[in-house]
Amino acid sequence: MSKYTLAIIKPDAVGNAGAIIAMFEKAGFRVRAMQKMNLSKGQASAFYAVHKERPFYSALVDYMTSGPIVPVALEKDNAVADYRKLIGATNPKDAEEGTVRAIYGKSIEANAVHGSDSDENAAIETAFFFPACELS
Ligand code: CMP
Repeated sequence: MSKYTLAIIKPDAVGNAGAIIAMFEKAGFRVRAMQKMNLSKGQASAFYAVHKERPFYSALVDYMTSGPIVPVALEKDNAVADYRKLIGATNPKDAEEGTVRAIYGKSIEANAVHGSDSDENAAIETAFFFPACELS
C-alpha cells in the first residue's frame, strides 16, 4: 500500500492552488514537497511518455507547458487510491460532486489536477519532480 502519491496542479487551476491544497490537507494528506515551476516541452514529453501513442499527446504536452504548474508530493496511508477518489474521474463531467475535478476542472484536458495511477508510477513521478527528496 502506497504512502506517497504525486499531485500536479495544472495550468488552468494554479489560480486555485491554495484552495486545492486545502482540500488535500482536509482529506488527510500531508504535503511533503511542493514547487511552482514551468515545464519545458522536453520535460512534459518525458513525463507523459506513457501516452505518446495517444491522439491527445501533443495537445497535452502543449497544455502542460502553457503556464506554471504546481507539483506536490503527498503522504498518507493508501495515498494513490485515496487521492484518486478525492480528485474524481479524468473527465470533470464524469467526476463525482465535491471532488477536485468536479469543482475546478474545465475539460478532460484542463482537468485541474494530475494524479499517479499506481504505486509504481507514484514513485517514478515523485522522483521526476523531487529527485533529492527522501520519501521512504
Ligand atoms: P492526467 O491524470 O494528467 O493523465 C493524462 C492526461 O491526459 C489526463 O489527466 C487528461 O487531462 C489528458 N487527456 C487529454 N485528452 C484526453 C482523453 N481524450 N482521454 C484521456 N485523457 C486525456
